[in-house]
Amino acid sequence: MRQEEAAARIRELHTEINRHDHLYYVESSPSISDEAYDSLRKELERLEALFPDLVTPDSPTQRVGAADRSSLPPAKHIVPMLSLDSTTEPEVAREFDVRLRKLVERESLAYTVEPKFDGLSVELIYENGLLVRGASRGDGYTGEDITPNIRTIKSIPLRLVGDSPPERLSIRGETLMPLEGFRNLNRVMTERGENTFANPRNAAAGSLRQLDSRITAARPLTFYAYEIMSMIPASSGEGPDPSSSHDEGTGTTTSVPNEKPGPPTTHTEELSAMAAWGFLIDPHWKLCPDIEEAIAFHSLLASTRDDLPFEIDGVVIQADSKRVRSAAGMRSRSPRWALALKFEPRREITTVEEIVVGVGRTGKLTPVALLRPVDVGGVTVSRATLHNAGEVARKDIREGDRVRIKRAGDVIPAVVERIPTAGEDRRPPFIMPSSCPVCGNPVEEDGAYHFCSGGLTCPAQLKRGIEHFASRGAMDIEGLGKKTVATMVENGVAGSIADLFSLERDVVLNLEGFAEKSADNLLAAIEASKTKSLGRFIFALGIRNVGEHVGTILARRFGSIEKLMESTEDELTAIHEIGPEVARSVSKFFASEKNRRTIENMFASGVAPSPPAVPTGPKPFAEMTFVFTGSMETLTRTEAKRMVQELGGRASSTISKKTDYVVVGTDPGSKHEKAVRLELKILTEQEFLALIKAQVR
Ligand code: IVH
Repeated sequence: MRQEEAAARIRELHTEINRHDHLYYVESSPSISDEAYDSLRKELERLEALFPDLVTPDSPTQRVGAADRSSLPPAKHIVPMLSLDSTTEPEVAREFDVRLRKLVERESLAYTVEPKFDGLSVELIYENGLLVRGASRGDGYTGEDITPNIRTIKSIPLRLVGDSPPERLSIRGETLMPLEGFRNLNRVMTERGENTFANPRNAAAGSLRQLDSRITAARPLTFYAYEIMSMIPASSGEGPDPSSSHDEGTGTTTSVPNEKPGPPTTHTEELSAMAAWGFLIDPHWKLCPDIEEAIAFHSLLASTRDDLPFEIDGVVIQADSKRVRSAAGMRSRSPRWALALKFEPRREITTVEEIVVGVGRTGKLTPVALLRPVDVGGVTVSRATLHNAGEVARKDIREGDRVRIKRAGDVIPAVVERIPTAGEDRRPPFIMPSSCPVCGNPVEEDGAYHFCSGGLTCPAQLKRGIEHFASRGAMDIEGLGKKTVATMVENGVAGSIADLFSLERDVVLNLEGFAEKSADNLLAAIEASKTKSLGRFIFALGIRNVGEHVGTILARRFGSIEKLMESTEDELTAIHEIGPEVARSVSKFFASEKNRRTIENMFASGVAPSPPAVPTGPKPFAEMTFVFTGSMETLTRTEAKRMVQELGGRASSTISKKTDYVVVGTDPGSKHEKAVRLELKILTEQEFLALIKAQVR
């Protein structure tokens, strides 16, 4: 075929494929079979391989699943996706009830209780009824844009049912893989010689994060909706009613989407509104008049959970009334009006075949029981942690013993206790080695734990450190998994994290398991990681006690690694949400000459983390506290709070003498009285908006 002919055919293929994508993804009514679609794509790929000059940026091959996409784009949530406080103890649920009733000054409270789905939390955004974005939760503020993948999930409406959809709607729910689909998928993967997923949750996560949405489409995923995160009702029709689910309701509106849409005033109404829009709502929920019934419903679900087609790991108990919710307010990461009451972990009995010692990222030695494989609630368990030497001695666990193990959700299975058997012939007790089983350096004791003293000269510590650095929540370097890291460390290619950024192509090509393409992909992924966000970079360094959340806080506060390195322990402790222990670890980390050099070397190789976008503007509200009470006309609580925060202020839910402004909406309640009593500055919503406007001009 000549170049001109190829160009013409390629143009035809673009048009055809784009049309079918639209029919499939947007209209949900494909007009050709998957096979026919695949053969169009294959033809295009073949032609582009023959005539590389004809590959244009708008070719469908350059979109989803194209080889050079190494990560999913970030997606900032409209309102933060909070998490829930959780417990396994009914007593803690009773205390939660007492606290909440006191807080909202009520004798009794009705709770909605529903399954806590064991999947992945996802935000869906609809504009004028059309699904425009799907995002994973991420750190609660920013997730990953997984819109094409989300569109493949059949139970997610691409267009809301009803005539007057909200102008904008943000829905939160859970994506999961039902058990039957999970088992089939694993069977097929085993047959193909691929690695299987450990549990349905991981399978759902792995399927959702695909760069090629056709892979996601082939996976049996489903979606249950459980929350309206924010809503701007339709502005046309008989009168707007702009408000959101986070506002206090007026108590009179109903929420049938086809009629005049008002915000739901209870969670019960919220569920039926979502069902009416076409979302899947799990029917196993119950409105309970008090906490005792909620706890009883938890027990009922605990005994019937195995009959459900998917995994749940507890129940979510939440105040049904939106008015109660806004009166109770939020903590920094979780609402005061909800609690996850989880199930007790699943337990099973098996035999310890061997006890080995693992070396972690910080050098900590962990005794691990290798078990005769046993099915614990649908997951095969063959290892369980024994935590530390003291624990092994206290429980008196030895090789050959019968033991009870437990598995709770994502947590590593643990050995609970030994089950003595009559007439058993036991082996000698376990002894912690005095030198590191990996590098042979002396082992040191620190409190209950033992540590290898080898630092980064210990290949195990170096491997774990690099694995962590490259992991998803950190620098997200695809292709740098456990196996590759092991090969690199063992071949002396990576003697520190910084070496990753000066890797030569030839060196990678010489490593086992690498070919041209995989080597290029890895190098491209490493290159792309150089400008990951500062928060991720700080987390990736592997500082003790610094998780993703703390990483983000430090990035926001300091804005650059250099500034963070210069910070003092006192400055760190002064930061809201940073305690003395975290402050000490951070200071200690940056005091190390070796760590500083590693960071300098990385920067010399072009690593340049991107600073957080937020705190650049002026901070007119610095040190100021705002309290909101009552429902507002044009703003949701969350929007109002965010406005305050963006100008450097704090939004609190409790009034005190130190409160600078109290913003009072309709139906304000006791906070208004208190504000008057304390002679605080009181603003109406309009005055508040005027104040904001005056700052951002
Ligand atoms: S309500 C303010 N309801 O559990 C948070 N969450 O530990 C409102 N989850 O990742 C959440 N099932 O996404 C709610 N029926 C349910 C849930 C549920 C699962 C997830 C949630 C979060 C985690 C909290």
